[in-house]
Amino acid sequence: MLKGKKVLLGITGGIAAYKCCELIRLLRKSGAEVQAMVTRHALDFVTLTVLKALTSNEPLWDGDSGRLPIEHIRAAEWADLILVAPATGNFLAKVRAGIADDLLSTTVLAGWQKLAVAPAMNSQMYLNPATQENIGVIRSRGIRVWGPASGDLACGTSGEGRMLEPKELLDLIDDALAPRLTEKSPRCVITAGPTVEMLDPVRMLTNRSSGKMGFALARAARAAGLRTTVISGPVSLPTPAGVERINVQSAAEMRDQVLSLLPETDIFIGCAAVADFRPATVSPQKIKKVKGTDELTLTLVKNPDIIAEVARSEQRPFTAGFAAETENLEAYAKRKLTEKNLDIIAANDVSRKDSGFDSDKNSITLYDREGGKTELGSGDKQELAERMVREILRLSGITEHRSWC
Ligand code: PMT
Repeated sequence: MLKGKKVLLGITGGIAAYKCCELIRLLRKSGAEVQAMVTRHALDFVTLTVLKALTSNEPLWDGDSGRLPIEHIRAAEWADLILVAPATGNFLAKVRAGIADDLLSTTVLAGWQKLAVAPAMNSQMYLNPATQENIGVIRSRGIRVWGPASGDLACGTSGEGRMLEPKELLDLIDDALAPRLTEKSPRCVITAGPTVEMLDPVRMLTNRSSGKMGFALARAARAAGLRTTVISGPVSLPTPAGVERINVQSAAEMRDQVLSLLPETDIFIGCAAVADFRPATVSPQKIKKVKGTDELTLTLVKNPDIIAEVARSEQRPFTAGFAAETENLEAYAKRKLTEKNLDIIAANDVSRKDSGFDSDKNSITLYDREGGKTELGSGDKQELAERMVREILRLSGITEHRSWC
């Protein structure tokens, strides 16, 4: 999603500097070019050799005698985004005051409009009124301040001051570098996760969907410049940056939310594993065992088919569905494509233990209503999501309207 984007990663001297290695790996995997720039103190926590190996670029720092006199200007101009992570309390104070006494602070002074900082420090240092005031002023200048989070700190205490995790920072970078959204940007609505149908106050009918595929699609859609809403059943995933999230439980609730957004939906992707049936009645009390009986009969009634309803609506958006199958993948997927009147269907083989439900991997083939077949292959759900969104944009013609963004 960050293909071709240039990220200047400034690293200051804090224990969280070690997390930069993982952040660089994730950035490179997403296609970004990374240039590390370190302060002298950062070198107590990471080495130039490691940074060079991970970025494939010579790290920039004050001790480099071969450095250009205008390196700070060149670096600031080169970058699409300058992220200082970790940003120590001292560094934040320098940003606020405009102090430029080393390569990184000088670069940031020149490239402040592209700047984001990820504070990391002991909670007392973070809560110090001086730091709080510095952060407030920095924010008021439009500089992005990402985090910190609460949790265990290197000093052995717990509290606010923990640097955001590399995956969270990656998400924020994605959002910061994604095309800007306007009221006219096309809107994409995605259902994700399982639905939950209550039997009584403590029991429910649900399935193994984790929401990972739907959330990966939401992240990819946002990165492609779409105003993205994910309508999700109960999952324990953070909301991708820049994505609107609506939480639901049952298929009926999911349907209501989908239909309420329909008039402004340009692309609909049904990735949720929606329960086809729900209990005919929900017992107000916990269902008790009946003495002398070994069986319990549940009467189920059909749930609305959300995607079919979307595809038959007057305001029909471009409609993409999923087929999770354990056998006859192609035949069953094509049948759903036709029966539900979809534009495209992603057939995923969920018979494999290492892919599909509740896994980071999937295996997808796309079939479209014109008879086209596109093999997206097997792999990471995020990579497959990006390929699928690209294909949806191509088939729907919405790519042509990227200038809306
Ligand atoms: O969440 P993960 O753990 O990452 O797993 C991802 C996934 C395997 C759940 C996902 O990739 C997937 O395949 N989702 C659809 C699963 C499914 O239940 O398919 P289905 O064959 O029952 O439904 C076909 C299509 O109709 C789907 O687009 C579904 O969202 C939609 N549907 C189904 C029933 C219903 N009542 N309403 C619907 O909208």
